[in-house]
Amino acid sequence: MADEHKNFIDGQWQAARSGKVFENRNPANRDDLIGLFPASGADDVDAAVGAAKKAFDRWRLVPAPRRGELIYRVGELLRKYKEDLAPVETREMGKILKETRGDVQEGIDCAFLNAGEGRRLFGETTPAELPNKFAMSVRMPIGVCALITPWNFPLAIPTWKLFPALICGNAVVLKPAEDTPHTAQKFIEILNEAGIPPGVVNLVHGRGEEVGAALVRHSGVQLVSFTGSATVGREIASVCGQNLKRVSLEMGGKNAQIVMDDADLGLAVEGALWGAFGTTGQRCTATSRLIVHRDIAKKVTDALVARAQKIKIGDGLDESVDMGPLINQAAREKVLRYIDIGKQEGARLLTGGGIYNAGACAKGYFFQPTIFDQVKPSMRIAREEIFGPVLSILEIQNLEEAIEVLNDTPYGLSSSIYTSDVGRAFRAMRDIEAGITYINGPTIGAEVHLPFGGVKDTGNGHREAGTTVYDIFTEWKSIYVDYSGKLQKAQIDNN
Ligand code: UN1
Repeated sequence: MADEHKNFIDGQWQAARSGKVFENRNPANRDDLIGLFPASGADDVDAAVGAAKKAFDRWRLVPAPRRGELIYRVGELLRKYKEDLAPVETREMGKILKETRGDVQEGIDCAFLNAGEGRRLFGETTPAELPNKFAMSVRMPIGVCALITPWNFPLAIPTWKLFPALICGNAVVLKPAEDTPHTAQKFIEILNEAGIPPGVVNLVHGRGEEVGAALVRHSGVQLVSFTGSATVGREIASVCGQNLKRVSLEMGGKNAQIVMDDADLGLAVEGALWGAFGTTGQRCTATSRLIVHRDIAKKVTDALVARAQKIKIGDGLDESVDMGPLINQAAREKVLRYIDIGKQEGARLLTGGGIYNAGACAKGYFFQPTIFDQVKPSMRIAREEIFGPVLSILEIQNLEEAIEVLNDTPYGLSSSIYTSDVGRAFRAMRDIEAGITYINGPTIGAEVHLPFGGVKDTGNGHREAGTTVYDIFTEWKSIYVDYSGKLQKAQIDNN
């Protein structure tokens, strides 16, 4: 019998009101049933939003430093359970243990960053234009926030949204991806153990079409924070637009690494391998294009192909494995479709390009590390997000062309340039259209205390992480205190 898990609403573990469940299986081995989770509906969402609304009235009045202490405690517990959480994540998401430990670490970093913010959350004080009058601005919580999170960072991304929401005084309903409900459940258990009051954090499992849609439409939800595909993000944004609901979207990428002819080529190859095939290419920051100077293209390509063929594919729980499976059948079909598209468009397949099913891998969704060259900027494999271990190599002749090619996609999340010329590096920093630019580092590896997000179709102008995330989770209030004892008319009495 598979373990049956529950939602967490108002401090209580509860089954879906319909009694329905869905299966959670290991992407490295379909025979491994991890557990059954509630297939919730609109009535469960309604209960969770109601509990959050009630809890918000008390939570917003808890002093922010005190809220920060609770988040600090969550960080300590995440650190304590890091080695237990990593295999839970690997089993349901597939990425290797080294990476799931990193995912948990990102959550720990995020906890300590936000705990400290409890003693800042700075506003401004400023002189008023009239005598005996005081002016300041303060951050106010927004209310009930719906957090809709993806499966590729099953712990880190919920923490990016949840800790800032809480430190600002909001209550939340978390709807984790259906592919990774178990990590979310463990996270909620930890929040509960740390002593977060009932109703402040609620967990509702289920499908996006049901739970996500009900959350986005619920009149008790003031804010939606979503990380996922651009297609779903657009739908969420349009519903939120109709209802004038605040919405923060973090969506796709088609990130590129430029390698100039003056670069340290060994370093550039290491970076491209990690950026393209780390997490099986399933990061929104993954490197899916390599834009290489033509004079060194052959050397770089040969080295990459040789190294890609040595990547050990298998179950991420095996410490000797370099790359785990894709998340599910649909993801693997999508990657396969793009391999066909690439071939039809005239790109040259240098290595990989197929599913990997040697031995025990036949039971999972494994895929070979894949490299195309002779890719042109107009090809679909150079423009559309594939979300798998597929790297497209494009050749350029100079920096201007490299940046033009890099910018020529609908997305703008992460980017990178390898060069030893400081002038080229600074021009790239200025002219690349992306939310993140790395110099001599791969496109993956963002740290939690800097803004995270992108331009163009990657997002809708917000930035998570850093201090910018507090602009998502608070409203500014300007306060004027007139202690003159008389009516003073701004713009009139002083002119
Ligand atoms: C994501 O893929 O959605 O910069 C997040 C990185 C990680 C976060 C990725 N720290 O690759």
